[in-house]
Amino acid sequence: MSHSSAEGRLAALQRHLSAGVTLSNGLELQQTKSAGEQRPAPGGGPGTLTIVDNRTGKKYDIKVDEYGTIPANSLKQIKAGGDGVGLRTYDPGYVNTSAVKSAISFIDGDKGILRYRGYPIEQLAERSNFTEVAYLLIYGELPSSKELARWDEALMRHSAVPDAVERAVAALPHDAHFMGIVLTAINALSTVHPEQNPALAGQNIYKSKEIQDKQIVRLIGKMPAIAALAYHRASGRNISQPNQRLSYSENFLYMLDAANKPGYKPNPRLARAIDIMFTLHAEHEMNCSTAAARHLASSGVDVYTAIAGAVGALYGPLHGGANEAVLRMLERIGSVDNIGPFLEGVKNKKERMFGFGHRVYKNFDPRAKIIREVAEEVFQIQGRDPLIDVAVELEKRARADDYFVKRNLYPNVDFYSGLVYRAMGFPPQFFTVLFAVPRVTGYLSHWREQLTDPDVKIARPQQNYTGVWLRDYETMPQRQNRQMMGDTLGEVAPSNAYKRRVAGSNWS
Ligand SMILES: CC(C)(COP(=O)(O)OP(=O)(O)OC[C@H]1O[C@@H](n2cnc3c(N)ncnc32)[C@H](O)[C@@H]1OP(=O)(O)O)[C@@H](O)C(=O)NCCC(=O)NCCS
Repeated sequence: MSHSSAEGRLAALQRHLSAGVTLSNGLELQQTKSAGEQRPAPGGGPGTLTIVDNRTGKKYDIKVDEYGTIPANSLKQIKAGGDGVGLRTYDPGYVNTSAVKSAISFIDGDKGILRYRGYPIEQLAERSNFTEVAYLLIYGELPSSKELARWDEALMRHSAVPDAVERAVAALPHDAHFMGIVLTAINALSTVHPEQNPALAGQNIYKSKEIQDKQIVRLIGKMPAIAALAYHRASGRNISQPNQRLSYSENFLYMLDAANKPGYKPNPRLARAIDIMFTLHAEHEMNCSTAAARHLASSGVDVYTAIAGAVGALYGPLHGGANEAVLRMLERIGSVDNIGPFLEGVKNKKERMFGFGHRVYKNFDPRAKIIREVAEEVFQIQGRDPLIDVAVELEKRARADDYFVKRNLYPNVDFYSGLVYRAMGFPPQFFTVLFAVPRVTGYLSHWREQLTDPDVKIARPQQNYTGVWLRDYETMPQRQNRQMMGDTLGEVAPSNAYKRRVAGSNWS
């Protein structure tokens, strides 16, 4: 297809998706005005810090940089005898440690702010669309119409999954979890593209912009097809090949639903709802899985393996798996009458309230507000989900309860997203996949940023050693007299199938 015809077709499509199809309620969100706002000095701004080591009486001046951080290495000079090792910080879960400098997204958890490249998430959800936002995240600026047309065309040209990946997925059990399938598919892509693998093609391969761009459009382009492949592994139906005449989100629904009817067109409002959900989930600075992507990529591993590792971290129920956990929780509560006992269980730490609380948002999660609006739109088309009443009442009761108020626990992005996806007919196991599809864009933005970061080093945290200091190897007879203590292998019961096999003859 020539560039100009692609441009014309895609420009028409963009107009249709971003401006033509607004949600019926108009997605009326409070718009953040940017006029003249200056950034307050992070952490109070630059300066110095005087540390007095009460162990030695020595004084140290430590530099505070313009980000309000101190270089952890500057603490190394603070020594007080012992093993001669300087001071370090102990920060499990990295709750107060900046590991990177990044210009991609900004969160203010107390004020409920999320911005991509400086644009408030509310404005992007209302006025932009996913592929435009993906371009913004990767390249730093909103695209011109020409740039957007080339970008969309490149994504769509890379939207089909190679046969080897389809066959790898086909080899998995029919009831494999969707996320396990997605992980397999992304890993398989790594083997299909050896020409970009630093282990085979050399450590400098990613210095080439051409190689970078190619992997970016491949991964963002193929994620909807990988998700559709996972979906149809369970549905038992065939995935429809991508339809390049559709937008990214429409094509995703097309691959799920077209059932080989080439003229099929998904409902534009549902496609717009999915598009907004993708926009909201595209990026969220140094969350667990993005940190994992950076961590893996710091070793120089190929980008597909790094992204698969990140998607693996996203799978966890404390992270991207939370929306599936929310839905299972709401189903278990079942009716408004059971909310009281459930909340008691949460307060007694017997239960965890999935979809509530966040490491950084300690006021409200701006994405949760937008998703409530999207939920209403989807319910208009698909019918109202009875569990929404349970969710709304649960939120109301929790937010009036001291336990949640004191700990600043508010609904997060996952609280309502599961209801949107359930209303759209997706099974709970698929929810995290719907998170992974857009978040790959965030991972790739960080991967690209890290490739040119002069400060980047292989990620290698320190530890505080707590084990036995030094001892001599004990021979087996010496160990016989030792009293059983500490940890040992528990009961690993043989399966009945194993017992059946060994009950036969000539088993060795
Ligand atoms: C997201 C999450 C992991 C953040 O954890 P964190 O920043 O480490 O916060 P903590 O676990 O230290 O929580 C602080 C306190 O609030 C409580 N808390 C946090 N989230 C809670 C929840 N969802 N339900 C009940 N209590 C919760 C903790 O038990 C702790 O209480 P304590 O001080 O009495 O021990 C956590 O809020 C959580 O598990 N939420 C549910 C899972 C979820 O929805 N994840 C998706 C995030 S987008």
